[in-house]
Amino acid sequence: MKTEIVKINRERFTEEELEFAARCLREGKLVAFPTETVYGLGGNAFDATASARIYEAKGRPSDNPLIVHIAETEALKELAEDVPESAYRLAEAFWPGPLTMILKKSDKVPKTTTGGLDTVAVRMPSDEIAAALIRLSGIYVAAPSANASGRPSTTKAEHVIEDLDGKIDVIIDGGASAIGLESTIVDLTGEVPLILRPGYISAEQLAEVLGEVQFDEAVLKRSASENVVAKAPGMKYRHYAPKAPLYIVEGKSEEVIRFINTEAVKHAAEGRIVGILATEETKKYYTGGMVFCAGKRADAETIAAGLFDTLRSFDETGVGVIYSESFADNPLGTAIMNRLLKAAGYHIIHPNEDGEH
Ligand code: TXA
Ligand code: MG
Repeated sequence: MKTEIVKINRERFTEEELEFAARCLREGKLVAFPTETVYGLGGNAFDATASARIYEAKGRPSDNPLIVHIAETEALKELAEDVPESAYRLAEAFWPGPLTMILKKSDKVPKTTTGGLDTVAVRMPSDEIAAALIRLSGIYVAAPSANASGRPSTTKAEHVIEDLDGKIDVIIDGGASAIGLESTIVDLTGEVPLILRPGYISAEQLAEVLGEVQFDEAVLKRSASENVVAKAPGMKYRHYAPKAPLYIVEGKSEEVIRFINTEAVKHAAEGRIVGILATEETKKYYTGGMVFCAGKRADAETIAAGLFDTLRSFDETGVGVIYSESFADNPLGTAIMNRLLKAAGYHIIHPNEDGEH
């Protein structure tokens, strides 16, 4: 299949430029489009064949439900049942934006879209291109992240081309996603609202609106031996992993740097190049290996924005092993570490203790 690339300048674009992609969506075709979180791979949420094609293009297990993207809050009435009043309060506070709500699904939503579940995930993106495309298509757009299953999510059209060229109908190139990490997912179907995936909207922000909110146990998992099953089906899969094994090194900055530098020398002696996931503040202290900078430690948003791109970059370099700094101590840290821990298969090293945990 030939994939059409449609370049859109987000500073100034017209609806006509999106008309072709919108028509493709209406016709049951697949369109990758930018959102403020990551790129999405969109198809008609009410068309079972379109969702089947999404699963196929991504190589994704079909029990892993898709998020339904909407252009106005009104859509909740058609997509969901027994919508709690808290959903409307969250919509008021955070939509359009990087928040996905899990609600009881209506009969109209096919189970092919929800991975067989009786609940549906709904999000209204704030990205202008995404919003205009959904509105123009006139349909609800089911969209997982536009990456091949298991790979880091895509934050640029180039990433989408790498993973999905030839497998989907259209890729809209709208430049880099502003946030760079997937949306926060909050499940409103239980007694207490539950965060199934941490993201840009923090637990504290949700608590301000909801009163009480808890994390799904699996979100806080720190080691591979903790056998908790994630409530979001997609969160249980291996994810984001670069080709080379990745280790997170945790501790005081000087200790982390010293440890990684020592490892780089050891690996070099055996002919292996070490990849290092560093930051603007620390990159100058690395004396060997191949250093990639995810962003600026003092500005966690830059690290969120650069993380998936950096993880992908390692694959092009032929590094044999990757060491990453840790990012727990900032407001976005929970979301960043959640993705990084998955990418690392929960391998954390504490240089000053008894090795790996
Ligand atoms: O930011 C985002 O959410 C991006 C953009 C494109 O909107 N989308 C995204 O979709 O990350 P995806 O499919 O890669 O991740 C959706 C996650 C999966 O872990 C899935 O299992 C979970 O949401 N999910 C979807 N529907 C669910 C449901 N009904 N109950 C529980 N988890 C659900
Ligand atoms: Mg995904």
